[in-house]
Amino acid sequence: MSGHDTLIPMTSHPCGPLKGQAHVPGDKSISHRSLILGALSVGETSISGLLEGEDVLATADAMRAFGATVTDHGNGNWTVQGVGVGGFAEPVNVIDCGNSGTGVRLIMGAMATSGITATFTGDASLNGRPMARVTDPIALFGAQTVGRSQGRLPMTIVGAADPVPVRYVVPMPSAQVKSAVLLAGLNAPGQTVVIEKEATRDHTERMLTGFGAEISVEETEEGRVITLTGQPELKPQTIDVPRDPSSAAFPVCAAIITPGSDVLVPNIGLNPTRAGLFTTLREMGADLTYENEREEGGEPVADLRARFSPDLKGVDVDPARAASMIDEYPVLSVVAAFAKGDTVMKGVKELRVKESDRIDAMATGLRLNGVTVDEGPDWWVVHGLGHGNVPGGATCESHLDHRIAMSFMVMGMAANNAVSLDDGAPIATSFPVFEPLVKGLGANVTRSHR
Ligand code: S3P
Repeated sequence: MSGHDTLIPMTSHPCGPLKGQAHVPGDKSISHRSLILGALSVGETSISGLLEGEDVLATADAMRAFGATVTDHGNGNWTVQGVGVGGFAEPVNVIDCGNSGTGVRLIMGAMATSGITATFTGDASLNGRPMARVTDPIALFGAQTVGRSQGRLPMTIVGAADPVPVRYVVPMPSAQVKSAVLLAGLNAPGQTVVIEKEATRDHTERMLTGFGAEISVEETEEGRVITLTGQPELKPQTIDVPRDPSSAAFPVCAAIITPGSDVLVPNIGLNPTRAGLFTTLREMGADLTYENEREEGGEPVADLRARFSPDLKGVDVDPARAASMIDEYPVLSVVAAFAKGDTVMKGVKELRVKESDRIDAMATGLRLNGVTVDEGPDWWVVHGLGHGNVPGGATCESHLDHRIAMSFMVMGMAANNAVSLDDGAPIATSFPVFEPLVKGLGANVTRSHR
């Protein structure tokens, strides 16, 4: 799983209206956590709607390597026979997390307070990403780490045989780091306290509560203070994974920029820590409505209806909203190209350490397609051209990044000329059915350069 041997060049040609329903896959964040928390409980957890993308499948394999029994029953239905908190076995082989930062960081946290040793690796993208953000806090529990220079994978973690609980202020807005510390805290005696200055996606907190852990969240002047009591017996759960708002972003944005479109994206989780893109699109003047709003499994859910929106305007995106839409800036930058005026995105330096440097990857591809972009270390501005004025016509690099790849495919649907990709293979990490799904709506996506 360390990268793809075969490149899949793809082209998205300008297309007619996108119409119909887009059933996007299960939520990636919740899918990883379902497998990991299932593996840490005692008994059988049943999961339906699991995202069967490469990232999550790598986490399933990892949980097997740590001793859980993970079974695929078909159609997104899975079971996990957990080994309990502190029950991880030492893996015999290196754990390959493929492209997944979420997988590797959460699993490193989860094993850091067991007296076992594990070695982690990934693809070229993952092996270039910073891991010190996790190894620093897990060292406070007593774990030891040896990796490559600058805290990069491959990396071996010697778990703390005698862990101590920690109090940790997360230095950057990162749900992965917060979650790694909480998962490490599960097997430390006493109370582990994690403080985040900016709220990030809260699936770990919600799911730990569901699995029976003692966990509280307090909003204070210091930030969100999360207190977890260690060494609980987690109880297996039945989980219906909601559909992923970050995947919904692609058909939603495609419909908004493609003339005549009207697309319904049913059953999308609208947890406020994830829904920032949809708020931003509405501010830009997008015709995006929430239908059939309801609550499922304690989470707000709605069917999203997105229609072609000819009069989009550029906006200053509220930086306070960044964490709630961090994965959506690439596709937002595409919508911004079709809006009139500037879209200003600030406070987003985390974009530079995702599966790729997403500011650089998008800015380069947008410029090749005739759009002017300015950028700095933690900001970028897309100078929108307005509908009908986006040239397109170039081939972009996906940099082993699924969201970059899908963003440029969306761009090609509405630009004046087709947009190509050097490699669409990374799409399979989070949205394996992207290609048939958008084709079913009316997109003209082909495999090969024009
Ligand atoms: C995720 C957290 C975010 C996000 C990633 C999924 C998670 O990463 O970009 O796709 O499931 O916790 P960071 O924690 O690095 O912001």
